[in-house]
Amino acid sequence: MRYQLTPIHCRPWLLNALSFKLIESHYENNYGGALRRLNAITEKLESLDWEKTPGYVINSLKREELVALNSTLLHELYFASMGGEGGKATGQIAEAINRDFGSYARWKSEFVAMGNALGGGSGWVLLVYIPRDRRLINQYASEHSQAVAGGIPLLALDMYEHAYHIDYGANVKAYVDTFIRNIDWKTVDARYQDAVGVEPLRPLEQPEFGDLPGVGPEEVKAMIDSGKPVQFIDARPKHFVSRQQDIIEGATWRDPERVQEWAGELSKSDPVVVFCAYGFHIGCKTAIALRDAGFDAKFMKGGHSGWRAIGAPVKQYV
Ligand SMILES: [Fe+2]
Repeated sequence: MRYQLTPIHCRPWLLNALSFKLIESHYENNYGGALRRLNAITEKLESLDWEKTPGYVINSLKREELVALNSTLLHELYFASMGGEGGKATGQIAEAINRDFGSYARWKSEFVAMGNALGGGSGWVLLVYIPRDRRLINQYASEHSQAVAGGIPLLALDMYEHAYHIDYGANVKAYVDTFIRNIDWKTVDARYQDAVGVEPLRPLEQPEFGDLPGVGPEEVKAMIDSGKPVQFIDARPKHFVSRQQDIIEGATWRDPERVQEWAGELSKSDPVVVFCAYGFHIGCKTAIALRDAGFDAKFMKGGHSGWRAIGAPVKQYV
C-alpha cells in the first residue's frame, strides 16, 4: 500500500523570514524525497520472499524504511509547526510547559540551545508528549530514526542544513530564532489536546485481589528513608529466599505459609508493607490475610525484583 502525500500545512506566504525558494525546495526535495523513497522501499518489501532473503538485505531494507518513514512524518510535523506568530505558548500546552519545564522562558532556552547545538551537524529537536508519565520533554535526535518509543511529537525543528542553508548559510542561530518566531502555538496546542487522550500502557491488573491497596517501591523507600514507622515484611516463599541469597535492607522475612503464627508479633498502629518475589499472588494473599486480621497492610508493587530494579539497597541474607 502506498503512503499518500500530506499537503504542506503552513502557508508559505505567512512565514516570517523564510523564503519561498527555501520552503519549496525543502518540501519538494527533502519531504517529497523521503516519501518517494518510502514508497519505493515499501514496494520492494512487499515483493520480498522472506524465507529466501538474506538477513543483511532484510536489515538494510527495514532500516531504510524506518529512516524514510520517520523523515516523512517529522517533515510533515515540521511544516505543521510553523505559520503562526511565535511568541509565548498559549492554551493548555502553555500550562503543560509551565508544569514540566518551570516556565516558557526555561522551555525556550532549552529548545533553542538544543537547536544551536545541532548546528554544523544535523538532526531534529522535538517537543514530545510521553503518555507513560503524562509529561513533555524536548527530545534530541541526531537522525530521523531516533524517536522516543510511545512518545508523541508535537513540535519539530529541522536542523538538517537543507532546512536553512539557502536563506541563512551557516548562521544557525538566526535560523533557530526565526523558527521560534514562526511557531504556530494554536496547532501545537490542538495536537497536545489530542495527545493527552492517549493512554499509557495499561497497568498490571489482578482483579482476583479486588481493590487491595498496593504501593510502589519508590514510595516505600521514601517512607523508610524519612524514618516513618513501617513494618516491612518479606513474604517470599522459602525457596526464593535461599536461592536468591539477598534480602531488602530493613525488611524481615516471614514465611507466607505461616501468617497466622507471626501476625501476632506485628503492631496494629503502624502500617505494614508486605512483598513477595514479583508482586503477584503470595504478597497479595499475605496482605489480604493481614488486612482480614485488622492490620493496615499493603502489598509492594513489583516485589523484591521491583525493589532491586530501582537500585534500592539489599543485603546478604543470613
Ligand atoms: Fe528537512
